[in-house]
Amino acid sequence: MKILVIHGPNLNLLGKREPGIYGSLTLNEINERIKKSAHDLGFETSIIQSNSESEIIEAIHKADYDVLIINPAAFTHTSIAIRDAISGVGRPAIEVHISNIHKREEFRRRSYIAEVCVGQISGFGPDSYILALIASKNILSGVSQ
Ligand code: DQA
Repeated sequence: MKILVIHGPNLNLLGKREPGIYGSLTLNEINERIKKSAHDLGFETSIIQSNSESEIIEAIHKADYDVLIINPAAFTHTSIAIRDAISGVGRPAIEVHISNIHKREEFRRRSYIAEVCVGQISGFGPDSYILALIASKNILSGVSQ
């Protein structure tokens, strides 16, 4: 069972980017946690970070995963192209956010991505990714959906 984790734009700055909102862990530290939990759940994982919408879309198109876990970052609120890539490929996807996007500025409440995902996990810090891995396990074993 393969999981692809995509981190969108500016998430490479985690650790020094607005720590009051996103916490103090770096992206590498978060990725280590993801890899450990994925391994414990029996998943193979690939993790990428990109600041480029086209690279994210191309990674989605490759479809070499059973579940996509994506933090589209600011593209959440702007990208119909990423939304169409997810719905076009038709694999289950989970939208993840470190912060609670519904508790912040009005413009962050709109997600173009959520409607093409199984669900959205938002506001649990880096644990949002771990919760998405648990949800992936349930999706693949037919417990949810
Ligand atoms: C984010 C929330 C987005 O609104 C923001 O643009 C990000 C990070 C989060 O993980 O909380 O870059 O996706």
